[in-house]
Amino acid sequence: MATLTGGWIGFLSLAIIAFINLAKADVPAFFIFGDSTADVGTNNNLQDCGAKANYPYNGIDYPYSTPTGRFSNGYNSADLIVRQLGNFKISPPPFLSLLERMPTFKRNILRGVNFASGGSGIFKETGRIRFVSFSLSDKGGPKVLGPAEADHLISNFIYIISVGSNDIIEIPFGTPTQKFINKIHFAYANHLKNLYKLGARKFGIISVPPIGCCPAVRVYNSSGGCVDPVNAIARAFYKASDALLQHFSSEFKGVKYSLANAYHMTMSIIDNPIANGFKDVKTACCGNGTVACKEGSNLCANRNDYLFWDWFHPTQAASELAALTLAFAEGPEFVKPMNFSQLARVVV
Ligand SMILES: *[C@@H]1O[C@H](CO)[C@@H](O)[C@H](O)[C@H]1NC(C)=O
Ligand SMILES: *[C@@H]1O[C@H](CO)[C@@H](O)[C@H](O)[C@H]1NC(C)=O
Ligand SMILES: *[C@@H]1O[C@H](CO)[C@@H](O)[C@H](O)[C@H]1NC(C)=O
Repeated sequence: MATLTGGWIGFLSLAIIAFINLAKADVPAFFIFGDSTADVGTNNNLQDCGAKANYPYNGIDYPYSTPTGRFSNGYNSADLIVRQLGNFKISPPPFLSLLERMPTFKRNILRGVNFASGGSGIFKETGRIRFVSFSLSDKGGPKVLGPAEADHLISNFIYIISVGSNDIIEIPFGTPTQKFINKIHFAYANHLKNLYKLGARKFGIISVPPIGCCPAVRVYNSSGGCVDPVNAIARAFYKASDALLQHFSSEFKGVKYSLANAYHMTMSIIDNPIANGFKDVKTACCGNGTVACKEGSNLCANRNDYLFWDWFHPTQAASELAALTLAFAEGPEFVKPMNFSQLARVVV
């Protein structure tokens, strides 16, 4: 993973300075961090990485049925959020692919970068056990954003962060919840402070969904229901994120944020599928609770009826509903203290 830091950083800083004059502050651009919920192909470029989705049936509903590396039948949350908020149709490209396409690199960097990597987490160690992937702290992303000259560009970018599920999935057995939550939020706060120091001001944070309800975890409940002890950690994670962001924004001048309650959004669908346009909120559309989605797996007929695309990830239809909710919801129930579309318009 050492290759992911170091050399690129100075290079990228130069590129940002060189093109800073082209940036228009009124067009929100995005830096996206997180795990497989937001990965648009980062892991395709990582050798020996187990957390990949660049094969069918992933992408079956993407233009030309292309498996892009998104853990989805089509677009994922990163794409659909960006589409609601700005002038872009899909997520900015993965960092590694930007570097490979040098002729368009300069133009693309103004559009933002997606650093999200399937299997990664808040802790640097997360994902190391099962996957080779890279975490929030060592991807060099924050450092890419320096130095001070780039501040006025960088501060108007929206930093979308969707992370935490993998850390929870990998909790060592028997760890007391509160001890884990304290430790993980200490690490999360450090990531946010590092981004702040590099000029980040606008944060769109997506909390952890009810992972106890995804097909891969439901298999541990003999009645097929959600596994509540896992969900309890996700609820505690949200509560701590709320406190963390209130504290962070009062301590650090100029911070604006939206915190999306992915737990509550997803539970509302699970508790009320039909009203939300879904028929199956328990099983995976592709594969099942014990096997990943791949070519030859069982595949559901109507993907839009399903909440879950595969054993862990939502369908495009579910991601679309989530994106609409966090962009436009009224009141603090799903997103607070402002929704993502307001965050996009705030001038810092
Ligand atoms: C398993 O699912 C049932 C509902 O089907 C629920 O009542 C029960 O609490 C769940 N078990 C655990 C350990 O979460
Ligand atoms: C999941 O799919 C695999 C492979 O198709 C199959 O062997 C297994 O029985 C399935 N599990 C369940 C619970 O349906
Ligand atoms: C959310 O976004 C919409 C559209 O931008 C806006 O009209 C509305 O007032 C916002 N609601 C809240 C509570 O932030």
